[in-house]
Amino acid sequence: MRFEDRDLAASEYATWLSSLNEPLPQRGRGAETTLQTLKQVVIPHGLRIGAPGFVGWVTTMPTVVPVAAALSASIAGAQRWWVQPFNFLEHLALEWLKELLGLPASSQGTFTSGGSTANLIALAAARQAACEQRGIDASRDGLAALVKPRLYASNQVHHVVIRAAAVLGLGRRALVQLPTDSALRLDAGALRDRLRRDKAEGCTPVAVVASAGTVNTGAIDPLPDILQVCRDEQVWLHVDGAYGGFGILDPEVAPLLQGLTEADSVAVDPHKWLAVPLGCGATFVRDRALLGRALTLEPAEYLEGAASHEETPGSQFDGLGYRFHDFNLEQSARSRGVTVWAALHEMGAEGMRERVTRHNAFARHLAGLVQSSPVLELLAPVTLSICCFRYVPADFQAGNGNPKVLDSLNREVLTRLHREHRHIPSSTEINGRFAIRACYINPRTTPSDVADLARAVERIGAETWARFADGQ
Ligand SMILES: Cc1ncc(COP(=O)(O)O)c(C=O)c1O
Repeated sequence: MRFEDRDLAASEYATWLSSLNEPLPQRGRGAETTLQTLKQVVIPHGLRIGAPGFVGWVTTMPTVVPVAAALSASIAGAQRWWVQPFNFLEHLALEWLKELLGLPASSQGTFTSGGSTANLIALAAARQAACEQRGIDASRDGLAALVKPRLYASNQVHHVVIRAAAVLGLGRRALVQLPTDSALRLDAGALRDRLRRDKAEGCTPVAVVASAGTVNTGAIDPLPDILQVCRDEQVWLHVDGAYGGFGILDPEVAPLLQGLTEADSVAVDPHKWLAVPLGCGATFVRDRALLGRALTLEPAEYLEGAASHEETPGSQFDGLGYRFHDFNLEQSARSRGVTVWAALHEMGAEGMRERVTRHNAFARHLAGLVQSSPVLELLAPVTLSICCFRYVPADFQAGNGNPKVLDSLNREVLTRLHREHRHIPSSTEINGRFAIRACYINPRTTPSDVADLARAVERIGAETWARFADGQ
């Protein structure tokens, strides 16, 4: 796949679909044909999210060394347990992540398939804690005795948290979505008021979910204030840092993440800013034993013989190694830690710090270009590596003009960017306004890509507005 080539996934949809969509072969086509199909049809039509101008999502194409690590795990570490290097590297990578994020060394980490399951696992621990405080073992006995459970988050919380509430048997409606301030951060005062009111009404607060980098704008909830509320009200604090947790590496952002290290649980996604292959999140829970109880795996005879942790096993069946399956939803799982180990081994803490700081600087630079342009408008403060803005024609009448026209105009500008350019931002809605959203997480993006995006939006915006004006 070459980034200079056009993106063919959509334009050649009919072609690749007709090559691939066939009935189950009764006789195998053989390795050579299968590999050729991968090479000629599948890969060339895949997504180019690693292209330097792609700034659409919080995930990116992985870098080379972590991909090699993933491949090596498929070959030599197909199971992450048993005493073997992949099991050890799972452990080591979690230790390194704790150090990188400043999390307590005693907390229990576990790799997950991504941010969705990282949040789910953390909230399973929170649910267990809330229940145990009331004499209920949720993991053993279920939730029948839990009265009106509630989770609290801002209205910017990632929607996978809402689904987690459903999966945990709390129900989606157990999530109370609270208002945000002008910077789209959770209002800690509103949180305190609501917690007190709910408690007075007999509800059971299970957890507060603070966002350390919302997917929409990168806003970081006021962690120290929220931590204080959680301490006062004795509620579990979970921090969803799937996207922005690694922002702590940027000295300019680190003060905003004070409190992360005090949280009861933290979720981060190495498959975002660390650019390891997709399918790698991580959860850290302060109370190791509690996490174990929340995810209790009943003993199984076929594993018991191997349950001792032998440092120097005589055979591979002698020891399971680090028992990550005791702190996770999965039993068998691929080795994810080796990809994180490889990324950190290759780049070091300094390399990651440089990447995160550079990406945040890109977003601030874009915001500066937007603010100094007479035709661009910044729609949200820049905290991490996301910048949301729109095109506003100089002759648009702010007071009298129909604001919906700006939404349609910017939607069209974005469509044209996608079709005609190598700049691929995404979109979102901020306070009811359509926004062009650039998220810098891609290690291949350069400073000139940042400036080019602003100029391209100005140019396409002017052309599109001229057509709009003609048609009106
Ligand atoms: C803040 C936040 N939380 C959770 C998630 C879900 O993570 P995943 O897509 O890895 O399951 C995302 C993904 O964008 C996110 O940005």
